[in-house]
Amino acid sequence: TDASSGNVLISGGQPRVGVDRGPIHMVEAGLIEQISELGWKVKFDGHHQFEDVNANNDPPIGILKNPRLVSRVTEAVAKVIEGHARLGELPVTLGGDHSLAMGTISGTLSVHPEACVVWVDAHADINTVESTDSGNIHGMPVSFLLGLGSQIPEFSWVKPILKTDRIVYIGLRDVDAGEKRILRENNIKAFSMHEVDKYGIGKVVEMALDHVNPNRDRPIHLSFDVDALDPSVAPSTGTPVRGGLTFREGHFICEAICETGLLAALDLMEVNPSLADDVSVRQTVQVGCSLVRSALGETLL
Ligand code: ARG
Ligand code: MN
Ligand code: MN
Ligand code: MN
Repeated sequence: TDASSGNVLISGGQPRVGVDRGPIHMVEAGLIEQISELGWKVKFDGHHQFEDVNANNDPPIGILKNPRLVSRVTEAVAKVIEGHARLGELPVTLGGDHSLAMGTISGTLSVHPEACVVWVDAHADINTVESTDSGNIHGMPVSFLLGLGSQIPEFSWVKPILKTDRIVYIGLRDVDAGEKRILRENNIKAFSMHEVDKYGIGKVVEMALDHVNPNRDRPIHLSFDVDALDPSVAPSTGTPVRGGLTFREGHFICEAICETGLLAALDLMEVNPSLADDVSVRQTVQVGCSLVRSALGETLL
């Protein structure tokens, strides 16, 4: 029951300011104390700021924006997560934008190569260097981890350690045409909002785990983008998409993964307190905190 919570401040993987403030708000809302109250011995690293890269001197590579900043921060994050995982701790990373998952998942898989990833998101974040229209790296981390698309030297530290049958998506509803092709061609399992509507969240989580973790013996890395939730539930995020998970559906995913006893690492990404009015920010920060608590063992009874 060692949780290590490193809050990583990064906004380089996407263009809108403020997403790096999300973790600060969640900690100020009392998240560390809340996790402690669940019985965890929390090692809080403080807010990791990786300031050695000058974001003003980071011209695009192709159309990829802030490539050096994102590469160096995520590489540093990978080492931090690896260190915690080696000590048997459960790293909790608050983002920051979802490009960070390149680092967190690299760190988890370097210690637990048999681990699987449950990626909860409105988006697939699987654009390659060739398929991305935006050049925003937060839309690309999964392709880097899988080794898809052409490789760029700046990101040579990212090893293609994730296998296509070890990741499953829940909540998708805004997938680029190129990404749909990538998912299809690589046979990557995804449960969109259509499947959530059709089967219900309980069945979807069960089917998702049956796919990536049939014997329920692999460690699970849960990477949760808060924009998986409906914007009415989590409005303060950079790329909201309507038709998302309800408050309970989001929490159910976290509770069900907690119940497996296999959670090895948790990301809670894309909380952006600069994008909305105070009430919406507070609502989003609160829901972010309660998702983390559910994943770490808070139950309703
Ligand atoms: N598919 C779009 C892109 O590649 C949006 C990605 C949004 N990703 C996120 N982590 N919020 O730019
Ligand atoms: Mn640390
Ligand atoms: Mn995402
Ligand atoms: Mn998203």
